Amino acid sequence: MRVTEQLAELREIRRSLPGTFGFVPTMGALHAGHASLVERARADCDAVGVSIFVNPAQFGPGEDLGAYPRSRERDLALLESLGADLVWTPAAASLYPPGYQTWVTVEEITRPLEGTCRPGHFRGVATVVAKLFLAFTPDRAYFGQKDAQQAAVIRRMVRDLGFPLEVVVCPTVREPDGLALSSRNAYLDAEERRAATVLFRALCAARALYDGGERGGEALRGAMRAEIHSEPLAKEEYVSVADPGTLSELDRVEDGALLSLAVRIGRTRLIDNLALEGNGR
Ligand code: PAJ
Repeated sequence: MRVTEQLAELREIRRSLPGTFGFVPTMGALHAGHASLVERARADCDAVGVSIFVNPAQFGPGEDLGAYPRSRERDLALLESLGADLVWTPAAASLYPPGYQTWVTVEEITRPLEGTCRPGHFRGVATVVAKLFLAFTPDRAYFGQKDAQQAAVIRRMVRDLGFPLEVVVCPTVREPDGLALSSRNAYLDAEERRAATVLFRALCAARALYDGGERGGEALRGAMRAEIHSEPLAKEEYVSVADPGTLSELDRVEDGALLSLAVRIGRTRLIDNLALEGNGR
């Protein structure tokens, strides 16, 4: 496995790798969710590249950029064990040199959900992912369903700008109690960790109503809210039952609809989602 900080070296190594190339962008602090993307890329492609970059442009002013967990040596050891070929760990000043002023803005689909709570977030994500795509020139790029809106934004950007690559979205990896793996779970103390299961419980409550025949969007949102409000350490930011393509809220729910939510547990902001599937009704 080759590791570099330099763009010129990255390009040179990339050019030397024959066959199909799979790319997994990350912000490090790697866990089994990230590992599942690298494993999928490894299975699908001849060579695999990973970026580790805590992207300042996607963090808002009051957010956790400074505190974001960093574990470079452990991350590199994990990537090596997973069979990655190439890792890029760029410095912020090389991706955003002084005078930087070019941004990728995806419009409607970035406005609801995360867009309402984190203005500017998806501009930072789309811009860095576009820059990473230009650097790695992958044939396939792997993203997690955990960040469903992010995956939708990237798909839109790839279509709109004509990046010659396929976006592959992989299932959410969860702890045995349902909590979706996230680098931010490291912020939780023991009490908060227990409370954090409320995200998955709320999604399951709404899914159970749907499976029981309920088709009202507001009823499903109400079920998620009730579950969140029953947990004293949890504070709702949003609950949503949305069209998976446009992310607009649904009055009448159908198979494929996306249940999603953002919840604060103490000072930690967590998100999760589930796609509703048919049960033959
Ligand atoms: P990061 O949060 O490090 O996540 C990197 C990738 O891992 C994303 O595609 C994310 O959806 C996926 N992922 C995270 N937790 C997961 C889980 N429990 N199961 C499956 N996949 C999971 O997302 C980002 O970084 C950044 O926004 C990035 C795309 C790298 C741009 O800076």
